Amino acid sequence: MDLAAQLEALRDDGAARLTAAADADALEQARIELLGRNGALKDLKDAFKTASPEDKRSCGRLLGEVDQALKAAYEARDKSLQGAVDSSAIDITLPGEDRRAGSIHPISQVAWEVEQVFSSMGFDVVDGPHIEEDEFNFTRLNIPPDHPARDSQDTFWLSTGKLLRTHTSSVQSRTYPDTQPPIRKVVVGKVFRYEEVDATHDNTFTQVEGFLVDEQITVAHLVGTLQTMIKAVLRRDDVEIRLRPSFFPFVEPGFEVDVRSTSATGRFSNWVELLGCGMIHPKVLKMGGIDPERYQGFAFGLGLERLAMIRHGIEDIRLFNGADLRGLRQFAG
Ligand code: DAH
Repeated sequence: MDLAAQLEALRDDGAARLTAAADADALEQARIELLGRNGALKDLKDAFKTASPEDKRSCGRLLGEVDQALKAAYEARDKSLQGAVDSSAIDITLPGEDRRAGSIHPISQVAWEVEQVFSSMGFDVVDGPHIEEDEFNFTRLNIPPDHPARDSQDTFWLSTGKLLRTHTSSVQSRTYPDTQPPIRKVVVGKVFRYEEVDATHDNTFTQVEGFLVDEQITVAHLVGTLQTMIKAVLRRDDVEIRLRPSFFPFVEPGFEVDVRSTSATGRFSNWVELLGCGMIHPKVLKMGGIDPERYQGFAFGLGLERLAMIRHGIEDIRLFNGADLRGLRQFAG
């Protein structure tokens, strides 16, 4: 056989053999024999080197073609073998894996509803940092360094002198310096307290803080706003709310708000304490660069875990941050 015929034979038969290799071992064997250091292609390359000038002229291109065709056939087969699944490794009679769809956490559900209600009343939904400065968490909310109210909010202090915010009221004091009334904002976020964890206390929980500053704002606006929110989130029309005087350094007057439902049986038939609120203290406005002679405002803060517990009849706050998915799965869908 002349060189050209040999090259053509190698191109056709060799490529066919590579393509037909049944598995990785067969392919490797074929590669060694055809493309290896002492393989068939190498033999023909050697033969080419010593061929007559005439053969060299007529076979040069063919040699390149053979080389390319074999390499391409090898690579294609190698790829398809790697991608192929070894069918003997699959037992199609095995039961499938049970894949559960995830679901929205009950706190996120309530948070979302609260944000919706306040958006519909023209409030901006805003956010603030978890790592906060003393000044915004306390001082500018009328809780100076020596004030006993600091003791009621056990604080995680950081070595930098900053702290983990103990309430979302910090977003109020943060907002004022950059904003002039009218202001209508609501923030939902995590807060942190150095608490012993038990059925009704957690060290990480979720608060809503809402605040509004404008001209001629009264307690009536506060009550109307809270009623709208509570009815929407508790999904009842017959809720009554009751304000009791209370003390929070950043409001004057301050109130605690209880809720009950006339048609409810069980827990809700009696007053349940839900949140704190009041008219923003003139000192807080002043420290925020807002003229308290001209503007007034209200603010309120509530714990979302408490709201979700009332709504769903949950007895233990540890359900929310615990890892027992059996509890959380009940709220899917
Ligand atoms: N920041 C308070 C707390 O965490 C809750 C609160 C009470 C917020 C009264 C308010 C308010 O805006 O007016 O205990």
